[in-house]
Amino acid sequence: MISWPISEPVLVDKALMLRPWHLDDVSVLYEVCQDSAIQEFTTIPVPYTRDIAEYWIRSSAQKYLEREKISLAGVRNGELVLSVSLHSIHEFDHVGEIGYWVSSSARGEGLASHAVEMLTEFAFAIGFRRITAITLPENIGSQKTLLKAGFELETVLRDGMTRRDGTQTNSVLFAKFPVNQIEI
Ligand SMILES: CC(C)(COP(=O)(O)OP(=O)(O)OC[C@H]1O[C@@H](n2cnc3c(N)ncnc32)[C@H](O)[C@@H]1OP(=O)(O)O)[C@@H](O)C(=O)NCCC(=O)NCCS
Repeated sequence: MISWPISEPVLVDKALMLRPWHLDDVSVLYEVCQDSAIQEFTTIPVPYTRDIAEYWIRSSAQKYLEREKISLAGVRNGELVLSVSLHSIHEFDHVGEIGYWVSSSARGEGLASHAVEMLTEFAFAIGFRRITAITLPENIGSQKTLLKAGFELETVLRDGMTRRDGTQTNSVLFAKFPVNQIEI
């Protein structure tokens, strides 16, 4: 069983604060999501408008209440630098999938792998037993991020994803498990 907290979590350590999204974040979210790598490697709508940013933030709180998604903003030294979320949640199976981006100016500092570890550990603490992540084959930065955050490469999913241009492509599946889980 997943022990879903009543309120959206705030996860803090020395390096980073992961907290719920606020409507004050709309402008930063809009600006950061103009980045070509975020548009290429994540499933955000393109073009990404201010209205989409506002709708996404408003719907995040509702999706948390409906136990569909945990979406957190990552703040470092008072600056919003990343997004990390747990989606595709299947409570009965205790599984969810993690997604993330880091603003272009904050990349290469270990923030993505750290945020992924923080949210994954939180998910295990409330009862999840398997967290997955899926990347495009050429997204080496994301794959290294997952390995650094303790994920294992599971398999390549043949024709597992559709690109924005409509072509089908392989995708790469990673997974992480709680430390005490017994493997059979
Ligand atoms: C992928 C992404 C999240 C990485 O963020 P980041 O904060 O720079 O990642 P980290 O600093 O935690 O890096 C983790 C590891 O990946 C490596 N890495 C990160 N980006 C890399 C890149 N573009 N090429 C090669 N290695 C890369 C780092 O060197 C580090 O490994 P190391 O400790 O052995 O040196 C960021 O580039 C991004 O937001 N990309 C666009 C959105 C995206 O791809 N999201 C994931 C969709 S599956």
